[in-house]
Amino acid sequence: MMDESNPYLPYEVEIKETWYETPGERAIKTFKVDFVDSSVWDTWSHKPGQCAMVGRLGVGESMFCISSSPTEEGYLRFSVMKMGKVTRALHQLEVGDTMTVRGPLGNWFPVNEWEGKRIVTIGGGIGQAPLRPVINYVRANRAKYEDLTVLYGSRTSADLCFQEELECLISEEETTCHLSVDVEEESWEHYVGFVPNLLMDVSPSPENAIAVTCGPPVMIKFVTQNLVKLGFEPEQIYTTLENRMKCGIGKCGRCNVGHLYVCKHGPVFSYAQIKDIPEAFA
Ligand SMILES: Cc1cc2nc3c(=O)[nH]c(=O)nc-3n(C[C@H](O)[C@H](O)[C@H](O)COP(=O)(O)OP(=O)(O)OC[C@H]3O[C@@H](n4cnc5c(N)ncnc54)[C@H](O)[C@@H]3O)c2cc1C
Ligand code: FES
Repeated sequence: MMDESNPYLPYEVEIKETWYETPGERAIKTFKVDFVDSSVWDTWSHKPGQCAMVGRLGVGESMFCISSSPTEEGYLRFSVMKMGKVTRALHQLEVGDTMTVRGPLGNWFPVNEWEGKRIVTIGGGIGQAPLRPVINYVRANRAKYEDLTVLYGSRTSADLCFQEELECLISEEETTCHLSVDVEEESWEHYVGFVPNLLMDVSPSPENAIAVTCGPPVMIKFVTQNLVKLGFEPEQIYTTLENRMKCGIGKCGRCNVGHLYVCKHGPVFSYAQIKDIPEAFA
């Protein structure tokens, strides 16, 4: 719904809530925001997997996935890992401050085409952010889908995002949720090991299933290889890529993997589209 007459023009949003998901030098902070001009909601429409350029005036903007599902009404969520100039400036913002949002951008996970299927999500670290809207979309439309299996891992338990929701997923009867950390921790009751190994341990059936994965490129590489070993066809596997971006709208040529522009043709790709492009997993 971006302003077609000027795709560089952002909307101003106000931060309604904000909290840290994870601690440390590369902390992840979530922002729950609402449009300053509430009439933007009349035309705003995003789908799970879509992104937006989020910025701070006078500093710059960066690409982030919209980590709220369209079924969560009245706000948007972004979860931002502190990396450099823009993300550091965003982390300084608190409730009542404003930031800018330009979007929604890019394609999305075809959740409507997946109706009637079993959905498996496999996330690592901040890679859970684009999977969260898929999970919450399926939960809000539960009758339209078969099983929902969530696999999610991070380096340590403190690095797991969306911890309260993970508790809900674990206790929910209609969802299966498996968590992992890379190395043993005292009082950790779930799996210990890398996410691709967790996947093999759980071994979800490929029958009538769609697998969606996001995380560090090396994790995506081994997860997709393991999904193929489990019998998933490349067309049953989806991922989202996070190349560096500048314009976000297919004009600057900054974000290509092979012949594909991540901002224009993605960020969502099926494994069938990218399996022969080595840069996609670099
Ligand atoms: C489609 C898409 C979705 C994304 N979704 C999220 C999200 O939901 N949450 C989130 O925290 N981040 C997300 N990112 C990554 C985010 O855009 C970068 O972390 C951000 O641009 C860094 O900006 P900066 O100015 O703070 O850092 P810079 O000063 O530009 O760079 C600091 C460091 O970050 C690295 N970096 C910069 N851009 C990226 C990138 N795109 N991917 C990986 N490393 C990068 C640089 O190599 C450098 O090491 C997404 C990126 C894309 C393209
Ligand atoms: S970010 Fe400019 S072409 Fe993709």
